[in-house]
Order: sequence, then C-alpha cells, then structure tokens
Amino acid sequence: MAFDLSARLAERRTADLYRQRPLLESPQGPQVVVDGQPLLAFCNNDYLGLANHPEVIAAWQAGAARWGVGGGASHLVIGHSGPHHDLELALAELTGRPRALLFSTGYMANLGAVTALVGQGDTVLQDRLNHASLLDAGLLSGARFNRYLHNDPASLANRLEKATGNTLVVTDGVFSMDGDIADLPTLAKVAKAKGAWLMVDDAHGFGPLGATGAGIVEHFGLGIDDVPVLVGTLGKAFGTAGAFVAGSDDLIEALVQFARPYIYTTSQPPALACATLKSLELLRSEHWRREHLATLIRQFRQGAEQIGLQLMDSFTPIQPILIGDAGRAVRLSQMLRERGLMVTAIRPPTVPAGSARLRVTLSAAHSEAQVQLLLSALADCYPLLEPSDA
Ligand SMILES: Cc1ncc(COP(=O)(O)O)c(C=O)c1O
Repeated sequence: MAFDLSARLAERRTADLYRQRPLLESPQGPQVVVDGQPLLAFCNNDYLGLANHPEVIAAWQAGAARWGVGGGASHLVIGHSGPHHDLELALAELTGRPRALLFSTGYMANLGAVTALVGQGDTVLQDRLNHASLLDAGLLSGARFNRYLHNDPASLANRLEKATGNTLVVTDGVFSMDGDIADLPTLAKVAKAKGAWLMVDDAHGFGPLGATGAGIVEHFGLGIDDVPVLVGTLGKAFGTAGAFVAGSDDLIEALVQFARPYIYTTSQPPALACATLKSLELLRSEHWRREHLATLIRQFRQGAEQIGLQLMDSFTPIQPILIGDAGRAVRLSQMLRERGLMVTAIRPPTVPAGSARLRVTLSAAHSEAQVQLLLSALADCYPLLEPSDA
C-alpha cells in the first residue's frame, strides 16, 4: 500500500489550511526582507528586540572565539561547559528557584519535564489551549491525560477529583495564540489542595511580564510552593535559543537522571549560552523595553477597537485579531502584505476550528509610528474583507 501524500496535501490546500514557509532574508526586527520583499513585520516573538542586539551578537562572537562552535557531546558526557553552567546559575537567580537546567529547545524541555515526572498510573491535567509541545508531552508520558476547560479552575478541580497517582497540572503562562494569561494564583491553590504539582510553561511571559522580566510568577508574586515546575524558553524575548526548567534541587537532579530529551542530545553551542547571558542582563536591566512595549500595546488596542476589530482578552505583546474563517484570515494577511506589512494568519489545527486569526505581535523594537502604520493599513483593509470571502 502506497502513502497517498498528494491527496492529503490537496485536501489541506482546499481547506485553506496549507502552510508555507516565508523565506527571511534579513535579521529579525521590525523591518525585514521576506521572499525578496521589504516588509514591516508584526509576527515574531522577539518581544524585547534582543534577537539582533549588537551586544548580544558581540557576546556570541566572543563566546565562539573562546569556546568554539559546537557543544561537542551531551551534557552528561563532556558537553556541559562553563557558559552552560553560568547561564543555569543566572536563570536560577532570575526565577528565584534553587536551580535551573538548560535544554536545547522549549519543545524538548516540555517533553523532558512531563515525561520525567509522570508515567503509567499517574495523571496529567492540561489546559485545553496549551502549546502543542505540552500536549504531545502529556500523550508521550503514558500517564492518564485529560484537558480542562481553558483557564477554568473549577473545571480543573473537577478533573482533580478523579486523578490517580502523582498528578501534574500543566498550563501555559501566557497563552501563545491568544495572549491571555493563566489565572495562576487560583490554579496553584486548586492544585495544591489536591497535592498535585503545577507546571507552568512561561515561554511568552519571560521578558514582557514582571518587574524584572521574570515572567508570570513574578507578575503574581508566586513562589516555588505554588509553581514547583517552571519552564522558560530562550528563543522569544531572550532573543536567542534554547529553554530551561527551574525548580528545586531534587527536581533538577531528577531531570538530569530521567529526562530523555535532556540526556540523549548534544548540548547547545556554548557561545549561544554566552549570548543568552548577555541578553538576560539586558532583559533584566533595561526596563524601558517593557515600558515602551506597554505603550505600544495600549496604542494598538485603542486603535484596533476604533476600527472595530475583534481583539482578545490580552494585555501582553500577543494581540490576535479574531477573524473566524481561515480563508478570510489568509485574505486579510495577503491584503496587508500587498501594503508592505507582514502579519501571519494562524489557522487550525494550531487554533480551534472557526477561530482563525491574525496573530499580531508587538516588540520593544517597534516604534509608535510603525504601530500607527499597521493600524492605518488595518483600517483600509478590514472593511474590504467581504463576508463573501468566507
Ligand atoms: C508556549 C510555548 N512553549 C514552548 C514552545 C517551544 O519552544 P521552542 O521554540 O524553544 O522549541 C513554544 C514555541 O515555540 C511556545 O509558544
């Protein structure tokens, strides 16, 4: 029997769900070149504008000169080098946790943490809008896997009643496609009351949220008792790549022993850890980036509401415009592109059916004038989006 891939691909195309990779021909930033076209972009996750920062680049170059390029081996063999170790210490300090463990990607950190903590006979409960890497981790773990209603502590409490074995409650901190934030104080209370552990993936919260950029736990003032397992990724506001899990000494030692995506992979290039150490310093000290971002978010929301766009309940840099139909979302994205702006349409299966959207993301690297350009283009294009596009 042959694999009928062309039929599957054709089906995806017909449903307006076909995905393509835009070719970026410049560094990340507000002004990019994509497929040969200069564009003003509102779709990366470089929320603080550090991905192309000269000091971060210089730290990377100095790191490569001192440590070479490749990690060379896994952490447990001989790939755990000085910069990895220093970065783990700095991340532990940022999060106020005793220790942190560096992973090569956020996807791997999530797979590693969940599968190391729960297995057969245990339970994992997840918000139904969690990132795909968390959902995949839940399935891979072999634990009983259930999803509770989005950001709904009562729905979680219900499912906790039926939980068996060690129970892990898992949520995004900032929801990646909606931009809203988890009701962590209540979720933590509900989980704790049942002896469950709460794991938070704050990929989109580190940087923009909290007085020093330490994310949602800093925003709510929650400690390790409330959130024993805290995940952050480094490819978004940190502007580099990789991820970490922060928590107790026992948690980190358990991950070193049992987290397969940690054990069976080459360590990230040490120079990358050097670059992240620099971006971490900028993320913590340059408050103006968070303040400027907050101004842009207010400006965008006010302007978008005047145009009559349907926004979501978000005060974070993720500001989706809800469209509904996938075809209409793609059409609006194309109209913006014809005017020199890039905002990606996000469609199922990344988001639930009927909730396609333009995922606008703002960065401290944007100016108010650039946000105004986006708003003007939206004001021009949105009324042209005929219902017949549906
Ligand atoms: C909430 C969330 N967690 C994890 C990841 C995966 O992180 P990484 O890109 O480092 O694999 C992402 C996105 O990439 C994300 O949005």
